[in-house]
Amino acid sequence: MEQKRERFSSRLGFLLISAGCAIGLGNVWKFPYITGEYGGAAFVLIYLAFLVLMGIPILVAELAVGRGSQQSIARAMNTLEPKGTKWHWYKYFGMAGNYILMMFYTTVAGWMLYYFFKMAAGGFEGLDANGVGEAFNTMLSRPGLMTGFMVIVVLLCFGVCAQGLQNGVEKITKVMMLCLFFLMVVLAIRSALLEGGEAGLEFYLKPNFAALKEFGLLEVLFAALGQAFFTLSIGIGAIAIFGSYIDKSRSLTGEAILITILDTFVALMAGMIIFPACFAYNVSPDQGPSLIFVTLPNVFNNMPGGRLWGSLFFLFMCFASFSTVIAVFQNIISFAEDLTKASRKKIICINLIAIILLSMPCVLGYNLWSGFQPFGEGSAVLDLEDFIVSQNILPLGSLIFVLFCSFKMGWGWDNFIAEANSGNGLKFPKGIRFYMQWILPLIVLFIFVMGYYSKFFA
Ligand code: PHE
Repeated sequence: MEQKRERFSSRLGFLLISAGCAIGLGNVWKFPYITGEYGGAAFVLIYLAFLVLMGIPILVAELAVGRGSQQSIARAMNTLEPKGTKWHWYKYFGMAGNYILMMFYTTVAGWMLYYFFKMAAGGFEGLDANGVGEAFNTMLSRPGLMTGFMVIVVLLCFGVCAQGLQNGVEKITKVMMLCLFFLMVVLAIRSALLEGGEAGLEFYLKPNFAALKEFGLLEVLFAALGQAFFTLSIGIGAIAIFGSYIDKSRSLTGEAILITILDTFVALMAGMIIFPACFAYNVSPDQGPSLIFVTLPNVFNNMPGGRLWGSLFFLFMCFASFSTVIAVFQNIISFAEDLTKASRKKIICINLIAIILLSMPCVLGYNLWSGFQPFGEGSAVLDLEDFIVSQNILPLGSLIFVLFCSFKMGWGWDNFIAEANSGNGLKFPKGIRFYMQWILPLIVLFIFVMGYYSKFFA
């Protein structure tokens, strides 16, 4: 059954698509609001440390598993594991992670799309800060409206996947990402120059360790861990899949570092856009998921040409989120391709319907089901789904990748290193085996267990 696997047309395509998968709502929506909730710069420092210490090695491990097996996680472990072992059970966990992620992601991507249209139509003009906040709540109270935009997102993104890897996913994502980088820089400069914005820059860039005390260091570490893994898309094979589409001409460490740099750049830029704006317009930075929706329309309302800039901003937020949805859909499609003989068309049709249905609880969680508040006052279905993915499936899934790559009873260190280091470019340091085998997994486990404790029992 050795069928040749699809390939990207170029290295740039691979890098931009992997970065496109990594760069998404995690950067432009979650990163600012979590940073805001946990007190700013000190949180950012911990997050950056986690990216380097844990994110990059795990990225390399995922890419290596994908490239080594030439398959999605639905079959990768079966191919690479020693006979008789059960690593492949991971697939159910990882595949579930992809679906649960999409259960809330499509809804938030729909919000971006709605904001784009509303902004372009001048729907925020003349509103003060309260009015802008109200507009967000009004949207949340309308399940039909949110369902409509969620469905458009799902249709568009599956539509791109249906065009194929090179003609659809690669071509479209490449253009979207390049435009996104450019616009983020322009907007960050604009926002940093806002009158009254300096306090925001200070909040964002000058660590205030007292804030860590307020929440408890462990809870902050737990949040930073979840965010670092979420932003890099590690733990559920969403990056491994792109490893399976490349050849062995480049070693993987350099690629992982480039992906991390691009991802971090966009997250930091998003913070540069949002925090000065919060302080300039008196919007509190700790309001959670609504943050960018209640902050940014104010900025644009007060800016010459704001309607145009605002529309562009939300358009590119759509790009960031769509590129992630497309990447995860591609992963989901390849699960079915690796496991069944069904045609791509059939796979897409079934998944399209499944994902629309699965996304409904998140939509309804803000209106018809708003009585369900899993984490107390004001929380909703989205927070629960996000918690399951970001703080459970991603860290535990990443742990499995690391153990699989570094222990003999898994794929094994030698196989992993040979795969990661084949090709030109930066090599994975062999000397960090002990770190990968013991220290990294123990850090993840420790933060995980203690984070649970401090979130729920302390
Ligand atoms: N990294 C993506 C983002 O920042 C989210 C994601 C997580 C995608 C896990 C795939 C897997 O939006």
